[in-house]
Amino acid sequence: RDTRVIAPQLLDWYDRHARVLPWRVPPGGGGADPYRVWLSEVMLQQTTVAAVRAYFERFTALWPTVQDLAAADDARVMAEWAGLGYYARARNLLACARAVSAMGGFPQTRDGLRGLPGIGAYTSAAIAAIAHDAPETVVDGNVERVVARLFAVETPLPAAKSELVALAETLTPQQRPGDYAQAMMDLGATICTPRNPACGICPLIHQCDARALGIAASLPRKAPK
Ligand code: ADE
Repeated sequence: RDTRVIAPQLLDWYDRHARVLPWRVPPGGGGADPYRVWLSEVMLQQTTVAAVRAYFERFTALWPTVQDLAAADDARVMAEWAGLGYYARARNLLACARAVSAMGGFPQTRDGLRGLPGIGAYTSAAIAAIAHDAPETVVDGNVERVVARLFAVETPLPAAKSELVALAETLTPQQRPGDYAQAMMDLGATICTPRNPACGICPLIHQCDARALGIAASLPRKAPK
């Protein structure tokens, strides 16, 4: 199995099947606005794409730039956030908008982004990759599942995490890393799903060790609680 073909095959699939989402630019369109990428990624932490859509549209209509959000009234932002849950995220959102606004804009590197309020390993990589097309490896739950299956990693989560990140890093391309990151997420959300993965229409079926072993649906394993 040749890992070098995985990114090109996945990007070819993404060019045909990318989900149209309000914070995205079309495949190959290059970097998106870092403010819109950041806002969408914070909203998408523990909330589904379907639920986030309307909130994202409303926030960007009310506050089109990070400076606008930084200047917003706290209570108004909390009220608009109502329904998304996890209110610490909304407080971090405002603190981050104010820090970024004071800095004159979003840092362009993962290291520069990391440590801003609410921005950890996942969000810093996602913004650097999607907004700046930096070859950072973006690993969320979807990507963990895709990688566990491609490499038939049978170590249970959470112990497998560092191994899955290291394997994911071997796949990240220098070409179009932002589209690639979003393609991995779309594959995990629409085809390489937790139960009943649609292997028959997966663009990576011939690269997938778990599929070959007949164990795709059982991965990633989870340590008993
Ligand atoms: N889930 C979290 N971030 C996402 C993104 N940029 N595209 C699709 N699904 C996501």
